[in-house]
Amino acid sequence: MDKIIVTTNAKINLSLDVVNKREDGYHNLKMIMQSVDLSDTITIEKSANNDIEIKTNLYYLPVNETNIAYKSAQLFFEESGVEVCGLKIDILKKIPVAAGLAGGSSNGAGVLKGLNQMFGEPLSRERLMEISVKIGADVPYCLMGGTALAEGIGEKLTQLKPMPKCKILLVKPPFGISTPRIFSRLKVERINYRPHTKGIIDAIERGDVLGIARRMYNVLENITGKDQLEIRKIKNRLIDNGALGSVMSGSGPTVFGIFDDEQLAKKAYAHFKEKYRDVFLCNPV
Ligand code: C5P
Repeated sequence: MDKIIVTTNAKINLSLDVVNKREDGYHNLKMIMQSVDLSDTITIEKSANNDIEIKTNLYYLPVNETNIAYKSAQLFFEESGVEVCGLKIDILKKIPVAAGLAGGSSNGAGVLKGLNQMFGEPLSRERLMEISVKIGADVPYCLMGGTALAEGIGEKLTQLKPMPKCKILLVKPPFGISTPRIFSRLKVERINYRPHTKGIIDAIERGDVLGIARRMYNVLENITGKDQLEIRKIKNRLIDNGALGSVMSGSGPTVFGIFDDEQLAKKAYAHFKEKYRDVFLCNPV
């Protein structure tokens, strides 16, 4: 196979809890992850010259060895023993960048999966998941997708029952947030309210959309500093527009609301689209 096209989904966090800080600087987390049908498309093609050439539709993304797709391709060759060859990787981005939606991590996962398929599956699914954490803490989850509990730094995964049918409206404020910056501001001992993770898992098991939406909580929301005002405003507006619950995803700044009524969700989409550029009406996948 000389060419493969993969689509890579965005994720949201139905909940995000920080358990403690580790010696290596990372944090142990407890998060419920859900993939949504907002995706980037990656075309990978073998090429005659021996470079990894990256192209994207976003001019401000790096196309050198710091791009997550480049790192993933390098890691694939290192780990699989497949003889290094030239590649052209074209990334069509729709998932906003630095948004808390794991756009970069999902691209990394897509390149690993795509190359593994392209070269006849030299790495098992388990091995792929194992090595993928070297690219980023959310990459193992992105390989798995669906509804999952993520623990450790994000790499210890438990698949959950699929999220019940609902509409998920994503609204990204007009700025990005750097994940390392958010984590560096966090004082774990100061966290005084945490999500009831088990309660959300039980609600997922029951297929109870309202039960999930009401319990959604993200401990990182309170440390977004000056951005917090805008994030709060969007959260409140989502509720005013009929969302059953709303919360920030990951390290932000994207906020999402859960709807059980499609018409209301569409009306809310139109409302937010007048004020914000990055607004997406999604389904859980
Ligand atoms: O692994 P990834 O590159 O996605 O993580 C970005 C940054 O987020 C890390 O450098 C670290 O500062 C922070 N982080 C953390 N604990 C995690 C995941 C990420 O402190 N579990």
